[in-house]
Amino acid sequence: MIIILLGPPGAGKGTQAQKIQSSQGLVQLSTGDMLRAAVSAGTEVGKKAKDFMEAGKLVTDEIVVGIIADRIEEDDCKQGFLLDGFPRTVAQAEALDNMLNQKSLKLDGVIEMKVDDEALVDRITGRYTCADCNQGYHEENLKPKVDGVCDNCGSTNFKRRADDNRETVSSRLESYHAQTAPLLPYYESQGVLKTVDGMADINDVTTQINDVLGSLA
Ligand code: AP5
Ligand code: MG
Ligand code: ZN
Repeated sequence: MIIILLGPPGAGKGTQAQKIQSSQGLVQLSTGDMLRAAVSAGTEVGKKAKDFMEAGKLVTDEIVVGIIADRIEEDDCKQGFLLDGFPRTVAQAEALDNMLNQKSLKLDGVIEMKVDDEALVDRITGRYTCADCNQGYHEENLKPKVDGVCDNCGSTNFKRRADDNRETVSSRLESYHAQTAPLLPYYESQGVLKTVDGMADINDVTTQINDVLGSLA
């Protein structure tokens, strides 16, 4: 199955993708995670992406389309994949349609995670992740079971993203509304758009998404 999780920064794309990845065996492809890895490794792609990311602006279509085109060739994508944070412009969506057509694959569904803008700032400024396994947490909404210890791997090292501050969040939201929201009518017209209430509790959102996946299977 090939699924896109679409939603603004802080909507819960990464949180839900991690949960669905383990329950449904669909590999999570997060362009944000791939770009952050490239920035920390200091690759050519990372050097080109860094300033855009820190300003809350979108990286060029050419860079992200190239990353995804290479990634979906890998063996673990053969059983299907879950796109988190890609596509984010109509040009990226068209490039994805072309890639899938060439491989005779089809997009099964696009799940829009609808969340009010006001809720997003708190979600993003309270977010942190495990430095060793990347498991996501939130200061109020999703704490580890034992304070200061990752549930998943037992690490006590946590990190925050360089772009998770109030100023960058407003620029990321502007990018979402101007460049990514036009994908909603794009996918609506393809008949693949489904919407879930992303304001609900984390587990409730997972149930809604699993219901959508069940209806597509
Ligand atoms: P990216 O990493 O994709 O960031 P984003 O879209 O801004 O989204 P986030 O990762 O911030 O939010 P999320 O929806 O994953 O929320 P999460 O689950 O963590 O992109 C970063 C940058 O890379 C971009 O700005 C751009 O520069 C570049 N980039 C990436 N892809 C690109 C592309 N295709 N084209 C061009 N540039 C690209 O949840 C947030 C917090 O809320 C967590 O702490 C979580 O615990 C909590 N939470 C989650 N769900 C709930 C809930 N239901 N209730 C309460 N709390 C919740
Ligand atoms: Mg994310
Ligand atoms: Zn961990």
